[in-house]
Amino acid sequence: MQQVNLGMIGGGTVGSGVFHAWEKNGGLMAARLGVQLVFRKIAVKSFDEPRPYPIARNLMTTDWQEVVNDPEIHIVIELVGGTGIAKTMVLAALAQGKTVVTANKALLSTHGPELFAAAAKSGANLYYEASVCGGIPIIKSLREGFVANQFPAIYGIVNGTCNYILSRMKAEGAEFADVLADAQKLGYAETPPDLDIDGYDAQHKIGILASLAHGFWADHHAIHTEGIREISKVDMQFAEKLGYTIKLLGIAKQISGKKPGVQVSVYPTLIPNAHVLASVNGVFNACFVRGDIVGDTLFYGRGAGKDATASAVLSDVADAALDLKNGGKVRVAPFVACVKGGRIAPMDEIVSRYYVRLCVLDKPGVIAKIAAIFASAKIGISSVFQPESQTGASVALILMIHDAPNAAMRKALAKIAKLPVVKNKPVMIRVENFE
Ligand code: NDP
Ligand code: HSE
Repeated sequence: MQQVNLGMIGGGTVGSGVFHAWEKNGGLMAARLGVQLVFRKIAVKSFDEPRPYPIARNLMTTDWQEVVNDPEIHIVIELVGGTGIAKTMVLAALAQGKTVVTANKALLSTHGPELFAAAAKSGANLYYEASVCGGIPIIKSLREGFVANQFPAIYGIVNGTCNYILSRMKAEGAEFADVLADAQKLGYAETPPDLDIDGYDAQHKIGILASLAHGFWADHHAIHTEGIREISKVDMQFAEKLGYTIKLLGIAKQISGKKPGVQVSVYPTLIPNAHVLASVNGVFNACFVRGDIVGDTLFYGRGAGKDATASAVLSDVADAALDLKNGGKVRVAPFVACVKGGRIAPMDEIVSRYYVRLCVLDKPGVIAKIAAIFASAKIGISSVFQPESQTGASVALILMIHDAPNAAMRKALAKIAKLPVVKNKPVMIRVENFE
């Protein structure tokens, strides 16, 4: 049986998970693929760092160049993370003509075109299934399974840490900080976890999906991104009363009309409880993909963690090994820029529905003042809810708003915030109906 040698850089949460999964099922993979996969070297930063799973000491080195420069290693797996040294490692491996497998969405999102060009130049491939949605084979599905489709809409719960936090806040009324600490202990969160909480990890992932779906590389600077720091238990409770669940949603949606483009964004979103994405809880991720030919499809699975991510990394390793078995030709390019002049629509142009929570004085005329500002901006209110309180006290006022452009909504809320009867900064969360 042909033997393909593997080198790995990074032996932390995901790296040790890959080694463990290979120890467990490497024999089965060989039987399925007709290729023997053999680990030759694994680079880490420090030998003594605790690891979720042990890695054979005789394979370990603290010099990553030993992995990249070993002529016997055919495939390099990068599991270090970040956009610094990891970029140097990936480029060095590609320059040697070695296929690279990575889970590094930050690196791809920031430097994708440069990395793909380097791969094309050296005739090597770059695989990145584990970069989006952990163990769910979403990259392969978009690129291969759905190659005959255009994609009117992709909605994704793509960050396991945020979904874990929001789910526990909703189910247990837990505090944000306590739940975040648990997500870190479980190996879900990035280092630092701000990448998760502030929406940037989801931005990297939806950017990668949007790029594959729409054929031009989505510049991450153009992706409107909001995180979950400002989501409070109060909003979860009001959303629940109104029949919604709050999720951090990555959206890649075709926009037609006078200024066609693609909405690519990340923000907390009210999802109707009846929609399937509302039931995706914990570290689970899901992608709702609408293809113009295939129709609506749903992908669901663990979006983070050592084992689920290892499954995706090893599926890339299998593809790379089969490429080598079949003569080393790149069968499916990592990314094909097939659309010229693609445009990400600015958030101000996007039309959506909204949930608004204001803290107002409970006295006559307050609702009329607020309604007048919305009316002058041609924004319609679809429902109003206010818990009973004592006259003169500060009280929550919840408004559900009909479809309106984000620019108009932003300006109207700025005016409302300045009213003396409005006590705190208005909270605005967009609502998605998946139409
Ligand atoms: P960890 O921090 O757990 O592991 C990073 C590894 O890189 C460690 O083994 C570390 O060594 C090693 N390392 C750091 N610097 C160097 C260096 N200069 N030379 C050699 N090794 C080095 O990260 P994760 O495993 O969580 O993440 C790895 C990648 O996978 C990231 O890109 C992440 O975004 C991505 N990912 C993570 C998921 C998850 O659930 N954790 C899910 C999907 C993707 P040492 O152990 O000695 O410190
Ligand atoms: N920190 C990421 C998450 C890891 O929570 O989804 C998986 O990409």
